[in-house]
Amino acid sequence: MSALLGVNIDHVATVRQARYARNAASINVEPDPVEAALAAERGGAVGITAHLRQDRRHVVDRDIFRLKEAIATKLNLEMGNSPEIVAIALQVLPADVCLVPESREEVTTEGGLDCITHRAALEPTLKAMADAGIRVSLFIDPDPAQIHAAASLRAPVVELHTGAYAEASGAARDAELSRLIEAARLADEAGIQVNAGHGLNYVNVKPILVLPKLVELNIGHSIVSRALFVGIEQATREMVECLRF
Ligand code: PXP
Repeated sequence: MSALLGVNIDHVATVRQARYARNAASINVEPDPVEAALAAERGGAVGITAHLRQDRRHVVDRDIFRLKEAIATKLNLEMGNSPEIVAIALQVLPADVCLVPESREEVTTEGGLDCITHRAALEPTLKAMADAGIRVSLFIDPDPAQIHAAASLRAPVVELHTGAYAEASGAARDAELSRLIEAARLADEAGIQVNAGHGLNYVNVKPILVLPKLVELNIGHSIVSRALFVGIEQATREMVECLRF
């Protein structure tokens, strides 16, 4: 048995933007996130995740359109629920969309989406995506109230936020793992597919594999970091190995 791996290539674009953010038309623009995505696929990724942020700090619109064209697996477009990005998603038509909260100040996605507070804004987006044949995943904290809210929004998938687990140690980490297990159980009971991600690496991912009915993990930073030393295909392959249980 094995959990499936979606590779998040945002930080390949982060490296590109560090040099070329003001000169994207240059012929020397590298590294190319699409090339990284193809290598991740060769390494065993079942999907490619990219986050089109409102501030376009790493992935830009053109990347999303090129990824959709080039990859052989599925594109998971991570995005905030803003009208501009929703319109782009409806143009690109990725297989999956993962809705995340987004604030301009954060370094990366910080907390899960609050599906209770933002219910009214989420409902039309979920409907528009479902009508377009896009499967929506809600990135939420492992909180029973959020699972119930996701179920009442009829979300087909949730991605459980593993950030608090990844940052904790000792007993606090065990407690976070228990929260994730319970959330996964509740989501499965509600007929929702269980994915998870954020802050996972080659070591801390192992205990996560006990989540009941876990289908897919989305991992970015750790794979891109390892890729600096072994290449992204090999870094992906090593993570695929870690996901066997
Ligand atoms: N899943 C979601 C919803 C995210 O926002 C991120 C970070 O972009 C990831 C997974 C991947 O997190 P990491 O880069 O820490 O592996």
